[in-house]
Amino acid sequence: MASFQQRTQGCGELRLAHAGQTVTLNGWVHRLRDMGSLVFVDMRDGTGLCQLFLDPTKHPIPEIKTETCISVTGQVVERADKDKNPNSPTGEVDVVVETLQILNPSKPLPFPLNDEGQMQSVNEELRIKHRYLDIRRPAMRKKLALRAAAVRKIRAYLDARDFIETETPIFTKSTPEGARDYLVPYRLDPGLFYALPQSPQQYKQLLMVAGLERYYQIAKCFRDESQRSDRQPEFTQLDLEMSFVTQEDILQLIEGMTVSVINELIDEFALEKDHLVPFTRLTYDESMARYGCDKPDLRFDLELFDLGEAVQGTEFGVFKGTLENGGKIRGVRFPGGASLSRKEVAELEEFAKSFGAKGMASIAITSEGQGSENEFTSASGLVAKAGFLKFLQPAQIEGILSASGAEAGDLLCIIADEYMAGNNVLYRLRHEIGERTGLRDPRKLAFCFVMDFPLVEWNPDENRWDSMHHPFTSPKAEDMDLIETDPGAIRADCYDIVCNGTEWASGSIRIHRPDVQARVFRLLGIDDARQKERFGHILEAFSFGAPPHGGIAPGIDRMIMFLLNEENIREVIAFPKIGLGQDPMMEAPSEIDEVQWKEMGLRKV
Ligand code: AMO
Repeated sequence: MASFQQRTQGCGELRLAHAGQTVTLNGWVHRLRDMGSLVFVDMRDGTGLCQLFLDPTKHPIPEIKTETCISVTGQVVERADKDKNPNSPTGEVDVVVETLQILNPSKPLPFPLNDEGQMQSVNEELRIKHRYLDIRRPAMRKKLALRAAAVRKIRAYLDARDFIETETPIFTKSTPEGARDYLVPYRLDPGLFYALPQSPQQYKQLLMVAGLERYYQIAKCFRDESQRSDRQPEFTQLDLEMSFVTQEDILQLIEGMTVSVINELIDEFALEKDHLVPFTRLTYDESMARYGCDKPDLRFDLELFDLGEAVQGTEFGVFKGTLENGGKIRGVRFPGGASLSRKEVAELEEFAKSFGAKGMASIAITSEGQGSENEFTSASGLVAKAGFLKFLQPAQIEGILSASGAEAGDLLCIIADEYMAGNNVLYRLRHEIGERTGLRDPRKLAFCFVMDFPLVEWNPDENRWDSMHHPFTSPKAEDMDLIETDPGAIRADCYDIVCNGTEWASGSIRIHRPDVQARVFRLLGIDDARQKERFGHILEAFSFGAPPHGGIAPGIDRMIMFLLNEENIREVIAFPKIGLGQDPMMEAPSEIDEVQWKEMGLRKV
């Protein structure tokens, strides 16, 4: 027998239909209002909240503090009409408590978890230190429930399509995904280490060699890398892989899954999202040219414009110099930016400079001139205003207006620089403008595929080619011959999914032939001896009739971030790490015993 009276109902389940019944509830004191002769308690459990009446002559009120764990039995009564609360599902009834059992008292709380307003200003580290209390808040509980529902629907979608969910090891050997590994010393042979997987990339490919054909896993991944608001040192991927497929098969599967899962969740969780259009498709080159980055935020248009043609032959020093050096003159419109003050424009230029811009030229566009000497009135009646316009020919200014699609009220923000350096500034300017103009609408979800990435990029610090994704990505068939001759020109069968300006998933068709894999390793500066040592297992596996295969891995944490419009990934993880990877609740990482040092054959230096 339980040592307490077990519940007959959930607190959040009480309705008018229960009036007259005697119920038992188990849960916590969410809020207590002592009116002297009567005490109201909001009682909470996993199903929600209801209101109790306590008679202070019968119950030990001083002992009942917020978050005390209680069991109560009492009668459900209908509230007077004037007291009914239409905003609460249980707002038509109260429970008049007959017996109350204190199951466990609560100490004073570190933060008011029954006050969402005040919780907004509570220090996040304090919340995470007491995460078990933080998660008692219905708002936090809802996030975890949504996460669980998303994973459940993903599983259902893939299970129905003959995928085999398979676990792969956590103690393994380094798989390169671009971060540092977390290492675990091997006690029985000091000096040897396991690496925790940055992703199950090699295992899933080996499962394709093993003939599984369709694999997925809700996989924990571990990466020792700099922290950002959308990164955690340990995080979760939906990792999947398929054999005998083309890139198109994978894109269709993942798009279908995403739309289906999200649409079901929108219903279940009443998420306020507009709609999910079929994902836009952009090549890497298009994405860079139109948005300045490979993770464009497509919730708004504002494409970058190129003024190279419009100002060709200009004598204006900055533009001329840039064009002569093979650079680009490109810009982005800032709708409404024409009314910024001189100081505000200077601040925007400083913003651009903080991302490496040497400067920012700007042109204010209006519909009426003020007769100043810096103005130019176009044939269509638009008035462009900027000091440097005097260095340009009328035809060139007309060209700028038409290439930029300028409209009255715009500020044209122009960056003259080497192509990639300019991209880095322009994409941030575009996002900043999207933010300031409210075009980055939090209610929208805009997905896109970015495809055809370069296989490798030059790393000037190390003087070598690095994989743009990972070394198992296949070059496009038509670019195979470039591996030894022109690596920078190789396109890969590789794709990302981007949502609202953040990378959400990454995948590719893989190399499945050992000879091709060895050539790509060599291109990356991994010589034959090192290939054997680090990747001998996969090269050998590929030599036993490995099938053509490919896959993708969307981040689960990021998906929940998008759905809930959360700015920080920690909000969607039950027990996240803070700062440089610490867990303030468990106080991990932590010291180990002297004995453990010895056993592991480790020494502090
Ligand atoms: P990639 O490294 O691009 O690809 O990772 C895929 C997706 O995982 C998520 N992600 C992260 N989420 C939270 N914190 C992090 N530190 C973090 N790092 C990555 C992102 C990202 O898009 N093996 C390949 C996939 C493949 O080729 O199939 C891989 O891991 O949402």
